[in-house]
Amino acid sequence: METRAVYPGSFDPVTNGHMDLIQRSAALFDKVVVSILRNAGKVPLFSVEERMDMLEEATRDLKNVSVTSFDGLLVDFVDRMGASVIIRGIRAVSDYEYELQMALMNRRLSSKIETVFMLPAESYSFLSSKLVKEIAKLGGSIQGLVPADVEKRLAIKLHQKTD
Ligand code: PNS
Repeated sequence: METRAVYPGSFDPVTNGHMDLIQRSAALFDKVVVSILRNAGKVPLFSVEERMDMLEEATRDLKNVSVTSFDGLLVDFVDRMGASVIIRGIRAVSDYEYELQMALMNRRLSSKIETVFMLPAESYSFLSSKLVKEIAKLGGSIQGLVPADVEKRLAIKLHQKTD
């Protein structure tokens, strides 16, 4: 039987750390659905559509990966997708507490769905969308931290914002 996995998140924007996990997941599962949460509490830099475009561009060569968005409960979305696995990345011990809490709560909500924690390459263990945005805003180099298309879009977006 085909195993489908959902990789949920904000992806504001997608980083090379996310890409590393997407590639590892694509090698492990038959289908991977990367899904952006709509209506998150935090105000994003990029719209859901912009974030989807960037993810689609970055995953174009991965044939078993699709990109979409969701709102409502994650477990309900996973169920609607016919998936049985939630992928989450753990970079450092500091991620673990929040991820454990979410995984156990999701298990309580739906015992059929398993959360699989994956580790990105250690060279990305310090990387986050938040830091990428901060560095880009302050004029630092984000080369090698995000896909090239995202780097360009960040420059355009931040330039627009300061106009
Ligand atoms: O990239 P993020 O912001 O850490 O992703 C968090 C996300 C989207 C996985 C989480 O906020 C989520 O699943 N939200 C959907 C609502 C939900 O199901 N909440 C209960 C989680 S236990």
